[in-house]
Amino acid sequence: MSFLADGDTCRGQALDEIHAAVMARPCDGKVADYIPALASVDANRCGIAFATLDGEMHAAGDANIPFSIQSISKVFGLVLAMQRMGDDIWQRVGMEPSGQPFNSIVQLEWEHGIPRNPFINAGAILVADTLVSHFSSSRQAFLSFVRRLAGCERCDINEEVLASESRHGSRNAALAHLMKSFGNIEAEVDDVLSHYFFQCSLEMSCTELAQSLLFLANRGVHPLSAERVTTPRDAHRVNAILSTSGMYDQSGQFAFSVGLPAKSGVGGGIVAIVPGLGVISAWSPALNKHGNSTRALTMITELAGRLGLSIY
Ligand code: DON
Repeated sequence: MSFLADGDTCRGQALDEIHAAVMARPCDGKVADYIPALASVDANRCGIAFATLDGEMHAAGDANIPFSIQSISKVFGLVLAMQRMGDDIWQRVGMEPSGQPFNSIVQLEWEHGIPRNPFINAGAILVADTLVSHFSSSRQAFLSFVRRLAGCERCDINEEVLASESRHGSRNAALAHLMKSFGNIEAEVDDVLSHYFFQCSLEMSCTELAQSLLFLANRGVHPLSAERVTTPRDAHRVNAILSTSGMYDQSGQFAFSVGLPAKSGVGGGIVAIVPGLGVISAWSPALNKHGNSTRALTMITELAGRLGLSIY
């Protein structure tokens, strides 16, 4: 039987098998330890969900347990900023891969305070600046936006993660101040950082994440609510930058081996957009040296290979 011929049954079965296979092997990598709230997460947690445009949700393992979405929040921030600012945002942030670790500072000075892309920390802090400048309460606007997309009022901030992000945020503060010195941050740096740390501290499950990003697989329209979240052109743009920069300095390898627009976070989550079909979201906390979850990477790579999901 072809996986493509009987999609629903085979997708569910593929998820179960891939999850079981990954759990049967020893787990490589190391849980993020830059803040205690992440260091204490059980490394054996592992889940995967696949939401499809026709409303199906397949899930295996810990797919319904909320985890710290960290940098995956950069996708929601960017989409909200694109809604508000239109094309002006591209005067202040680029669309090229950085080839540097996600929190690198050096390139930002060479390039006069213009971050390479919205998915490295500097770029997401720049996006946070636009949100702080455009909303009377950017944090509330951000949370309402994500809750609406996920169809979930439960999604919320983890206050312990938020407090530690702020306490251990010196490098992000350095990035924000450097951009401010180049005139590329408008609001007060403390307000911008406060928004950035807030969005990094959001917790969602694999199923909630997969559902929330379906609009990126559907040319900007959320298939479950029929809400137009972005124009087709902007959905294309977000997916394009996810393809080149969503997995940090492992984005080239991910495109080479998987072939889907994707975003990772140091909480161990990865989301991958399958245009015209749906969204895969996987989570397991142990990370490789690039900050990408080892088990989530393996599961998404296997699933994309088995179901023939590459966009290339
Ligand atoms: O801002 C930071 O550096 C942390 N909150 C980590 C963000 C993140 O997930 C980077 N990604 N892989």
